[in-house]
Amino acid sequence: MKSYRIPFNKPSFAGAEGRYIAEAIERGHISGDGHFTKACHRLLEEALGVKKVLLTTNCTHALEMCAFLTHCGPDDEVIVPSFAFVTSVLAFSLRGTKPIFADVRPDTLNLDERQVERLVTKRTKAIVALHYAGVSCEMDTLLDIGRRHGVPVVEDNAHGLFGKYRGRWMGTLGVLGTQSFHETKNFTCGEGGALLVNDPSLVERAEILREKGTNRSRFLRGLVHKYTWVDQGSSWLPSDILAAFLLAQLEARDTIQDRRRVIWQRYERELSNWAAERLITLPHVPDHCEQPYHMFYVLLADTAQRERLISHLEDRGILAVFHYLPLNLSDMGRRYGGTDGQCPVSEDVSSRILRLPFFNKLTDDEQGEVIAACHEFRG
Ligand SMILES: Cc1ncc(COP(=O)(O)O)c(C=O)c1O
Repeated sequence: MKSYRIPFNKPSFAGAEGRYIAEAIERGHISGDGHFTKACHRLLEEALGVKKVLLTTNCTHALEMCAFLTHCGPDDEVIVPSFAFVTSVLAFSLRGTKPIFADVRPDTLNLDERQVERLVTKRTKAIVALHYAGVSCEMDTLLDIGRRHGVPVVEDNAHGLFGKYRGRWMGTLGVLGTQSFHETKNFTCGEGGALLVNDPSLVERAEILREKGTNRSRFLRGLVHKYTWVDQGSSWLPSDILAAFLLAQLEARDTIQDRRRVIWQRYERELSNWAAERLITLPHVPDHCEQPYHMFYVLLADTAQRERLISHLEDRGILAVFHYLPLNLSDMGRRYGGTDGQCPVSEDVSSRILRLPFFNKLTDDEQGEVIAACHEFRG
């Protein structure tokens, strides 16, 4: 694999990770739901005002729990954006549920709330609001559609922890929200995730699903004498060692977010004229959204220009990447009836988007090099 002087992502350490991991080992509890898992739960519940947070092995598994909790099954449907991460959809299709692809908004690249209602049928079991780049979907409209049709809205908030929509925390607005702590996210433990359970009536079943279909959580609270198999489920708890790593990152959230804000705002400030002169678009953040500065992307004029910018940066040792091929056009998406031209905005942006290097410890000099390289790009 090629190595780059300035990678696209690099895991960053907050400082206390090693000490906390050593403490988890000393405590003699390294399986799930130990001291550090509970500390992460408490921190997130208090910071976000969430009824129940459950750490999971990754965001994909938290989404799989959402599929169970919204009773998605064969012959049911789930409305998803076509410009999405595979598992935002796979978590539901795994249960036999058919993805119904909706297009995204050209400004925020989020599920276009204006297209959702016409896709609702009596089989719709959930609407997945993926907050792309940590900028919120239009949740008031989506929640209103959900309420009127009795369909729960699930927030895929993998990018959006500590972001806000109209002053309210993202991930806390739908019945369920999911987080990712993958290495590429603002806060990481390598691989990890969380389920935010906002509807109190779902808490007990969420605990059972995550604990291998057993009522072990009730047993641990002294509510039942023995624990046993009571429902479907799997084993979705991370080790307390990972939770120890994660706690160090979550405790450093103000420092991490301050640094990411500085990086994001510098990209925007120093690239806006460059972009305007070349018909390149920078991210749009509506006034009522507070983003957690998860990524910085540019939308090039066309695919050829994107290819030229990628190789221009590569020649200078800088890695820029793009993602999300439209899921309606993927092999699996087509098996679910996806067709060319079904989601034109998604198909268009996915051919033009490019993400610039962005990680907590990106230095001023490194970022300066990326920006200078962009300025040298003639288009
Ligand atoms: C929007 C979105 N949802 C879900 C996921 C899956 O996260 P994880 O790798 O924690 O399973 C990702 C991963 O990057 C993502 O970007």
